[in-house]
Parts: sequence; C-alpha cells; structure tokens
Amino acid sequence: MADAMDPPVFEGVVYQIYPRSFLDTSGDGIGDLAGIATQLDHLVWLGVDALWLSPIYRSPMADFGYDVADHTDVDPVFGTLADADALIAAAHERELQVWLDYVPNHTSDQHPWFQASRSSRDDPKRDWYVWRDPAPDGGPPNNWRAAFADVPAWTYDEATGQYYLHQFLPEQPDVNWANPQLREAMLDVLRFWKDRGIDGFRADVVHLIGKDPAYPDDPPEVAGVGRAGHHHLPEATAPHLRAIRRTLEAPPAAVMVGEVNLPDAAQVATYVGEDLLHLAFQFSLIHSPWRADHWRDIVRYVQGEFDAVGAWPTWVLGNHDNSRVASRVGRPGAARAAMVGLLMLRGVPFLYAGDELGLEDAVIPPDRVVDPGGRDGERAPIPWDGSARHGWAGEPWLPWPPAPEARNAAAQRADESSMLHLTRRLLALRRAETSLRTGGQEVLDVADAVLAFRRADDSGTHLVLINYLDEPLDAEVAGDWRIVVASDGAGEGGSYTGRLSPDQAVVLAEGER
Ligand code: NOJ
Repeated sequence: MADAMDPPVFEGVVYQIYPRSFLDTSGDGIGDLAGIATQLDHLVWLGVDALWLSPIYRSPMADFGYDVADHTDVDPVFGTLADADALIAAAHERELQVWLDYVPNHTSDQHPWFQASRSSRDDPKRDWYVWRDPAPDGGPPNNWRAAFADVPAWTYDEATGQYYLHQFLPEQPDVNWANPQLREAMLDVLRFWKDRGIDGFRADVVHLIGKDPAYPDDPPEVAGVGRAGHHHLPEATAPHLRAIRRTLEAPPAAVMVGEVNLPDAAQVATYVGEDLLHLAFQFSLIHSPWRADHWRDIVRYVQGEFDAVGAWPTWVLGNHDNSRVASRVGRPGAARAAMVGLLMLRGVPFLYAGDELGLEDAVIPPDRVVDPGGRDGERAPIPWDGSARHGWAGEPWLPWPPAPEARNAAAQRADESSMLHLTRRLLALRRAETSLRTGGQEVLDVADAVLAFRRADDSGTHLVLINYLDEPLDAEVAGDWRIVVASDGAGEGGSYTGRLSPDQAVVLAEGER
C-alpha cells in the first residue's frame, strides 16, 4: 500500500477554466474574467479548491493565449488587470485558490522581447531566443518539425539571415533559458503574479525549456513528427526548475504543476521532487481506452513511479487539448463512473470545466474551425442555463456542445440525479474523509472488468469499485460495506450487495452505520 504518511503539497481538487469558453458578460461572445467572477459561488457550491485559468495575458491569440505578448497585462478580450485583481480577491474571500497558466517555453512573436531580438544580431536580447545559421544547403539548422503546423520548427528571418526556433507555431518562438537575463525576466513573471495573489501556476510544456545546445537531428523513427516531446533533456531543464522552485518558495509562496507532456509516467516523475516541480501532469488516463485492465495497470504503474521519487501524482481526464472524456468513453453512464475514478484516486485531480456536466465535444463545421491544432470541439462554450444563449451575453465564438438544453448548469443544479450533483457529492466526500484525500492506496483484484482500489488511513477505509461494462457484474468484496456514493445514485446509504449495475461505480465505507 502506498505510504499514507507522504505529505501532499496540495490536497485539493483543481478546476481548469478555459477563460474564452467559460462565460461571456461583455457581449463579444468570448468568455471573460467578469464571467468567471459571477460563477465563484457556484464553484464553491460544487466544492473545488482551486481554479486554474488557461492564459489570460495579452496575446495576438495565434494559439489562443499560449502566445504571450505581455506577461504583465490581461488581454482586453478577458478584461483588465483590475478585473484579475478583483477575481483573485473574490476567490480568496471564498477560500478558493487561483492558479495561472505560465508559458515559459515560448512567447508570441509580437512580444517586445522577440521584436528586439529579431531586430539585429547585436541586439542585447538577441540571445533571449534561439537563433542559428542556416544549414550548409541554406535550409533549417536541423530536421525538427513544429507542432500544430506542417512546417519546420525553424523559420528563416530575412532581416538578419538566421533561423529562429519554434517548437509550436512560427508565431511562438522558443525562448533561451540558458541566457541569464531571459531566465531572470521569466522568473520575474512569477514574482509579478505571486505578488498579485496567485497561489499556483500550471507551467506549459515546462520540460522543453532546457535545450541541448547541439540541436541534434531527430532520429529517423520520429523525424517529421511535430510532437516536440522528444526534444526534452532533463539534465538541461533541472537547473531551471531549481531556479523556478526557489522563486516559488520565496514568500508569498506558490505551487506549480508542470505540463510535462511525455508519454511515460516514469519520465514525468523525474521532473518532480523536493527542489524540482511540486507536481506534474501525467496524462495516462486521457490516452487510455475505457477498460479496467488498462486503468488497473496505469494506476499501479503511476503509483509505483511517483512513490519511487517520493512525489504526489496527478490525475487528468480532460483538458483544452484533448477530446472530452464523455466523448471518449461514449456512454453517459461511463462518463459518470470515470468521474468517480478521477476524484477518488490518490493524487491531485484536475477537473476540466464542463466535465462535471458530462459535456461532449462540439461538432465543428469546417467553416467554424479556428484552432490550428484541431482542438475546437473540447473548447466549446459552457452552457449555464436553458435560455436561447445559455447565459452568454453574446453569440459564442464556437458552437455549443451537444444537448445544451439539458446539459447546462442550471438544469443540473435543479436535478439531484444529475452528473453535476454526483460530482458535488464526490467532492464533499473527498473533503470529509482524510482517507480519500491523503490516505494510502492499494489496487485490488476483484473482477476482470472492474477497477477496485482501497483508500485508507487511521481514520478509516473506503473501497472504490468501477464497472467498465454496460452490463451488470458480480464484484464481491469480503466484509460488510455500505454505499456512500454511487455513480448512478442507486442504493446510496444502503448495503453493498456484491453486484454492480451496468456502468456503475461505487464508493464504499466499512460497516452498516
Ligand atoms: C500546451 C497547451 O496546453 C496547448 O494548448 C498549447 O497549444 C501548447 N502547450 C503550446 O503552448
């Protein structure tokens, strides 16, 4: 059983808000900070602990905010710096933390730093980005490809006769953390927002900030794939993570979760630790089919790898880069069961706004596509009520997800059998029971199509059982157990009979009580 004594750096549940798609109050069809502020009481009612806001900085929006043009200002589509201050204060009054996206690997090509850097080879900021001479044939310095665009990861700049590196869009030049001034400027961004009250940061592709100065060609098996993941060099990134950690720990302290977007949780775990990242995403469940054997293997593996480095894992079922969990698993009952897994597993859960309503990806007609990375479906607007525009002041920038007349926050608040209420019951249980928050965890073999795990500490024991099939299953467990939460609401408060309904997940507590 994983050690129940490891103190987690953060015990709560983080709720990811994609600000463009949350709620528009200004009438331009783009969500804004004022819209988020109007829903704080709802989020307190729901029971999350922290809000992570995807980028709100000034940006030309080539990558919808992941191309930052000014780290110290809010983009006008979202509001003003004063709105950010007001939101942080209002959240804190409600004991909600506010975490901000931090984009350390690149800026916008419109950022004044890059404008200066590209202006001349002698500019003091030239070395703040990665400039290289053309290859002998005049082509790019190596064979890397950019993510989201079918182009090389290097763009030639006529004015100064060199190429600059961009592992994402050409509008997102990579910065050079090996340059001490750039590094300090990037650390200043953290200081700026910590001083404004930000409690934590989600660090975008932070594993890419340390570069191999040789910029070696990709080997043939990955050449031509714009995935960026294979360009990571842990030993080059670690010193920068240490500098970040020191900056975060200087008062007022803040935590950081790194988007270490690597396929193997063992690789991810090497970026986490005492003087490195507090937390790192591992996306195993996003990439897993809805199958008990896969989930069992993942939970065991992740637990082993994170325990080995003494770190607390994270769990993610959805975000703004991946098809929504309800679309992936297909059946609404399975999406509800998946929510039980997300919120009961040992680690820090990240809940993507809208997943608590069971939202599916929107269908995007070809003439409405706006994201170069094909991620519009999961970024569809959140429907807040059953009115024509579902609570939005303006016609939203993307189409609605399916069935907004039923899958909206107001309708589900009024319906105790809804997925929203299920999520709320799970969050309340997690708050009430230390065993489910910080307790140890052991995966049990109960039935092939069932993930079963025990969470326990000195205060008590809970069992979680998830049926991955749309048929009833026997899942006997020794002892007397009662159902505290069931994904379909059935039998809550009663004894567990040893049989799960189709798509059912249950949280069980010991005894009759
Ligand atoms: C990961 C972010 O989640 C994604 O939305 C973005 O496009 C890339 N990093 C580049 O910043």
